[in-house]
Amino acid sequence: MKLGNYEFEVPVFLAPLAGVTDKAFRETVCAVGGKYVWTEMISDKALTYRNSKTLNMLDLTGETEPRIVQLFGSEPETMARAALLAIECSATVIDINMGCPTQKIVKNGEGSALLRDLPRALTIAAAVVRAVNVPVSVKIRLGWNDDEIVAIELAKGLESVGVQMLTVHARTREQFYAGYADWEWIRRVKNAVSIPVIGNGDVFKPEDASRLIEQTGCDGVMIGRGALGNPWLIPRTQHFLKYGKVLPEPLIEERIKVALQHFDRVLRYKGERIGLNEMRKHAVWYIKGVKKAAQLRDEIMQTRSPEEMRTLFSRIMEGKE
Ligand SMILES: Cc1cc2nc3c(=O)[nH]c(=O)nc-3n(C[C@H](O)[C@H](O)[C@H](O)COP(=O)(O)O)c2cc1C
Repeated sequence: MKLGNYEFEVPVFLAPLAGVTDKAFRETVCAVGGKYVWTEMISDKALTYRNSKTLNMLDLTGETEPRIVQLFGSEPETMARAALLAIECSATVIDINMGCPTQKIVKNGEGSALLRDLPRALTIAAAVVRAVNVPVSVKIRLGWNDDEIVAIELAKGLESVGVQMLTVHARTREQFYAGYADWEWIRRVKNAVSIPVIGNGDVFKPEDASRLIEQTGCDGVMIGRGALGNPWLIPRTQHFLKYGKVLPEPLIEERIKVALQHFDRVLRYKGERIGLNEMRKHAVWYIKGVKKAAQLRDEIMQTRSPEEMRTLFSRIMEGKE
């Protein structure tokens, strides 16, 4: 699969996940062998106001290409300016969010609200394409609800204004994350356009990815929730698509070792207070399936210092739990 000058050897992508795929998690996924990652969604307005927290989200130092930055917004002009700022911060692909279902985004006409305003969606994409000299991609859902499926019309329109790649999360806005992703629509979108289409929705194990490709003909797969506390799913899926063999899941020692490295990165990038707070949710995901996970979860939530968190991880690793 190709995008601009990039040739994706095994097209498996870590999804943009707000509050999750920050620099620390992206680096963790790459450290265990993942190749292609996405930033969290970043507000165009906040970026153009040079909000310091937002600029931190754009710290791409040391990350390998392609550096795919996702922006959300509703104003073509602001989106174009934000895209240029992202490129100044070394983004090499700009992705536009047309799928976020949350009320606080949608009420501003952003994210999946654009599924109900195709002229605006296309104007935004066209403005970004015109402004930048890097590939532009768009991540969409199927439509607002089952009665308003717009994926094909939108995909064709986006291709016609110069968008070079699409990701299709095969759910409607009204579904949020409920029910199943309807992969059949990914197949239909893929057949309707000539640009690469990444299929997304409900890939939780490597075999799901190959089924998704077989059933839809999509060019790549994107993994979101399956990677929570499980960065290995990305390289294991890459391995399966390349060699047809499922690598074993990592043992608890390996899981805790990587969780601790992840924690070090979180502390480095976010500082002790915010870092500890953010790591709690990751820690709960990392220990999923471990014996006494419910009790450990409570202990994780009560950790009051990085040392306490590390000690807890060590106890889990040594099997003292
Ligand atoms: C916690 C969370 C945060 C998300 N944040 C974003 C985001 O910032 N941008 C985006 O396009 N999609 C976002 N999504 C949607 C995912 O990228 C993905 O499309 C969705 O989870 C379906 O894929 P999955 O079944 O592999 O999880 C988010 C989903 C979750 C669960």
